[in-house]
Amino acid sequence: MRGVAVRFPFRTRSLAGRATLALLAGLALVEALGLMLHTLDRRDLVFLGEARDVAVRAMGVYRPVVLAPEASRAALLAKLDLPPGTRAALGPTPPAELPPAPLTLARLVRAGMALAPIPPPLHPRDVVVLGTLAEGHVVVGLALPDGNWLTVTLRLPPTPLWRSPLLLAAFLALMAFAAGLVLWLVRVLVAPIATLAAAAEQLGRDVNAPALAEDGPREIALAAAAFNRMAERIRRFVQDRTFLLTAIGHDLRTPITRLKLRAEFLDDEEMRAKILGDLDEMEAMLAATLAFGRDDATREKAIVLDLAALLRTVLDEAADANPELAERLGYEGPERLGIHARPLALKRALGNLVANALKYGGAARIRLAPPAGGVVLIEIEDDGPGIPPSEQERVFEPFRRLEASRNRETGGSGLGLPIARNILRAHGGDVTLANRPGGGVRVTVSLPI
Ligand SMILES: Nc1ncnc2c1ncn2[C@@H]1O[C@H](COP(=O)(O)OP(=O)(O)OP(=O)(O)O)[C@@H](O)[C@H]1O
Ligand SMILES: [Mg+2]
Repeated sequence: MRGVAVRFPFRTRSLAGRATLALLAGLALVEALGLMLHTLDRRDLVFLGEARDVAVRAMGVYRPVVLAPEASRAALLAKLDLPPGTRAALGPTPPAELPPAPLTLARLVRAGMALAPIPPPLHPRDVVVLGTLAEGHVVVGLALPDGNWLTVTLRLPPTPLWRSPLLLAAFLALMAFAAGLVLWLVRVLVAPIATLAAAAEQLGRDVNAPALAEDGPREIALAAAAFNRMAERIRRFVQDRTFLLTAIGHDLRTPITRLKLRAEFLDDEEMRAKILGDLDEMEAMLAATLAFGRDDATREKAIVLDLAALLRTVLDEAADANPELAERLGYEGPERLGIHARPLALKRALGNLVANALKYGGAARIRLAPPAGGVVLIEIEDDGPGIPPSEQERVFEPFRRLEASRNRETGGSGLGLPIARNILRAHGGDVTLANRPGGGVRVTVSLPI
C-alpha cells in the first residue's frame, strides 16, 4: 500500500481521521468564503442605508429653513432642535472644509433629496457633498433661493458589520452541526474496512470462520462477496487435500491387514518377524499420516481456555509417561492465562513439543510469558544435543528426522513438528527452534490471545 499512499498534510494515519480532517478543513474554507460574501453584500447594504440617512438628516434641516421667510431663517435655524451628531450653519458660500465626497455617495445623497417633497425641487448643482462615510464625517451644502448656503455637518458613528451576535452563534452552531455530521458519516463509511480486516484476520486462524454479510453499499457488498468467494476456495482446497489424505490412508489399511494375515503363514521364522515388523511400522506411519491430515485443527470449536492449566496438564501427562524424568519437567509462569483456542488441537501441538524435548533432550522446562502486544510466548527448553542450525527449519518438514534419531528406540515418523506448526499457525501463531547458548534446544511458541 505504501506505493499508492498519497502525501497527506495531517499527522494521522487513520483513514477516518484523515477523511474527517480533510472534510472539516474543506467545510471551514467554504464557510469562510460564504461569510466573506455575506460581509461584502452587507457592506453594500449598509452603505446604501447610511447614504439615505445623510439625505434624510440634511433634508430634515433644510425643509423648515427653506420654507421659512427669508428674514427669519437664521433665527429659525438657531432654535431648531437638531438630532445628535448634526450641526447646521448659514453662510454666503458653499462649504469647502473637506475634500469632495466620492461620486457614488454624492449621487445617492442627491437622489435621496430629489424624493423629498419640497418646492422648488433642488437642482444637482445646488447640493454639495463633502467627506466620506468611512471616516464618518460628511458635510452637505444646500443652496437657498436667496443665494445663501445651508451647511449641514453630520457625524456618523461607524456601523458594525457584525451587529447581531446571533449571526456568529448561528455560524458556530452550523459549523458544529456539520462537523458532527462529517464525523458520523466518515465512521459509517470506514467501518466496513475494519470489518473486512477483522474477517481476513479470522480467516487466517480458522478457515471455517463464518462468512461476511454481503449487504450495505454496493462497493462494500461486492468486496464482501469477493472475500467470501476467496474464503470458500481456500476452504475447499483444504478440504480436498484432507479428504485425499484420509482416503489414501484408509484404503491402505486393508491391504496392510491382509498382508499381515498372509505373513503369519510364512514358514521362515526370521523372515516372518522382519516382515511383520515392517508392516507394524507402516501401520504406525499410516496412523501418523492420518492424524496429520485429520483436520481437527480446523473443525474443532475455539473456546476461551486456561493456557497455564493446559501446559501443566501436558507436563503431568508427560510425567506419567516418563516417571524417571519427572523431576526434569518444570513450569514457570502465571497461575492462569485465558486465551482463545481449540483445546484438543493446542494440547496436541504442545504435547508433541514436550515429547520431543523429553525424547531428544531428556528434560522439558516450560516458561510462559505474560501477554505483550496481544501475543503470548511459550518457551520449552531441554538439555539435549541441540539441532544444527541448518536443520532447525527443515525438521518442520513432514517425515524429516535427524540421523541421530533414526533408530528404533527413539523412532517416530517425523510428523510431530509439522503437526505442531500446522496447528499453531492455524491459531494465528507459530513455532521456531533455536539452540540454547548452554546446550539443548529452546522451542519458542507464539500465540495470539
Ligand atoms: N528437542 C529436540 N532436540 C533435538 N532434536 C530434536 C528435538 N526435537 C526434534 N528434534 C529432531 O527433529 C526431528 C523431527 O521431529 P518430529 O517431532 O517432527 O518427529 P519425530 O519426533 O522424529 O517423530 P514423531 O514426533 O512423529 O513421533 C526429530 O526426529 C529429531 O531428530
Ligand atoms: Mg516428535
